[in-house]
Amino acid sequence: MYGLRSAAIVAATLLSCSVQARLPYQQGPPGYASDHDGHYQKIPSSTHNSPSGMPQPYGYEHPKYPNPTGAVPYGPTGTASPIRRRPNYLYGTNAGGHLILEKWMTPDIFEGTNATDQYTFDQTDGATAKLKKHWESYYTRDDFVAMRQWGLNAVRIPIGFWAYDNAGTPYIQGADAHLERMIEWCRELGLWVLFDCHGSPGSQNGFDNSGHAGEAHWQTDDNLARSTRVLRAMAAKYGAMKYADVVWGLQMVNEPISWDSNNLNTTQSWTERAYPAVRAAAENKQLSIVMHDGFMGPSQWTGVGRALASSPRGNRGPARFVLDTHLYQNQAQEDKQLTQREHIAKACAWRRTDLLPQNSSSLAAMPVIVGEFSAATDVCANPDGSTLAGSACYIDGCQCANNVDIGDWQKPLKEATRMFFEAELEAFDQGAQGWFVWSWKGPGGWGMENLIREGVVGKQLNDRKYKDQCD
Ligand SMILES: *[C@@H]1O[C@H](CO)[C@@H](O)[C@H](O)[C@H]1NC(C)=O
Ligand SMILES: *[C@@H]1O[C@H](CO)[C@@H](O)[C@H](O)[C@H]1NC(C)=O
Ligand SMILES: *[C@@H]1O[C@H](CO)[C@@H](O)[C@H](O)[C@H]1NC(C)=O
Repeated sequence: MYGLRSAAIVAATLLSCSVQARLPYQQGPPGYASDHDGHYQKIPSSTHNSPSGMPQPYGYEHPKYPNPTGAVPYGPTGTASPIRRRPNYLYGTNAGGHLILEKWMTPDIFEGTNATDQYTFDQTDGATAKLKKHWESYYTRDDFVAMRQWGLNAVRIPIGFWAYDNAGTPYIQGADAHLERMIEWCRELGLWVLFDCHGSPGSQNGFDNSGHAGEAHWQTDDNLARSTRVLRAMAAKYGAMKYADVVWGLQMVNEPISWDSNNLNTTQSWTERAYPAVRAAAENKQLSIVMHDGFMGPSQWTGVGRALASSPRGNRGPARFVLDTHLYQNQAQEDKQLTQREHIAKACAWRRTDLLPQNSSSLAAMPVIVGEFSAATDVCANPDGSTLAGSACYIDGCQCANNVDIGDWQKPLKEATRMFFEAELEAFDQGAQGWFVWSWKGPGGWGMENLIREGVVGKQLNDRKYKDQCD
């Protein structure tokens, strides 16, 4: 069971979550959309439905468990216009590598520098101009249109704390304006936003995805207090009622490690203090406040969920604490030994091992979302459809996912990947309240955009070919 793993195993698994380990191979970022003109139309709040021609997103109702959280659809509070009903289930993607750079995702922007992360990039010559160009061109409105057309109803948007407070750091500001532009696109297109403070003061994990690779220094008194202050500012801004029709939630911390200089107790006690403080800063009391599980699994957090649900501390409305867990099968060494059949069995087992069962009594206190996962595994597929672990094979026609360009994938590798992806979604349908692929743009099988373009997955989210794999 995930939550019962020994510290040593968890630490070993976690090492592999560093950027290096997440980088299976180098490949330029997939097609940049180019027609961005920087203009967008803010449409009146009374017409926040899908624009004509857009399909309805796949289920604001969960297909199997209508309204599983018992969430009450809420009406307007203090505004005259009707507010869109909050979704019962989130079908989403991350907009990763955008407002926080990760070299393995966008190597091009790092060219000609020795920078390894946002922190070092921001200190290189010409960084401000390069960042501005990246922010204006990497994600454009067309990407959000494509997300919606495929059937998604939500986007998780990572951003660093420094966008709101860069005092004493070399970080360049300006990302918040781009977050706000994306929120407007989401509103216009009918997508919900989970904005995610992905980089915390001092670095919560020492991974480059925090902005600063190296050591985690988040759990000092100063950094924890600063973390809460910045989150309160973000909650005051995006938790305003004027955003209640588009901003679904705020994630407080992404992937804080539970080893080295961090410990889970500190993470959890901070969470119990920060949640009411952040919530109090948000005018929209329906705003979900999300916390990552520190790689320890939801079962380690049910106590926190219950404490926060039973102790609203003066905050109106139902508890809105949501736990985020990340379920990858391309990081840990043990996963690199699996055939695709074994990967699928492991994904199905997540329902019992790594997620809280949809119907468990702790659910009301703490819904779980899978804020990151990937269709990518390190497997090779033989022409007969059988698969083997790794990145090398010798049968004529055999292809390995992590070293063959996705544009050249043949049917066996595509089908094996699709089966795994659909098994993941099946597990999440039954054990979570939503999911977000990492990421819309990314190298090879990491990029949802690539998987759709190359026909590795269905033309629509609800076009599933391998049903009931987990039964
Ligand atoms: C990168 O590092 C190398 C080795 O220290 C150095 O020679 C080079 O000038 C650096 N490049 C830049 C752009 O700073
Ligand atoms: C965490 O808290 C529990 C219970 O309060 C305690 O038993 C445990 O020793 C603490 N662990 C650390 C690492 O502080
Ligand atoms: C909850 O789900 C489990 C596993 O899916 C099932 O065995 C059990 O009967 C369910 N319990 C209730 C009360 O629905």
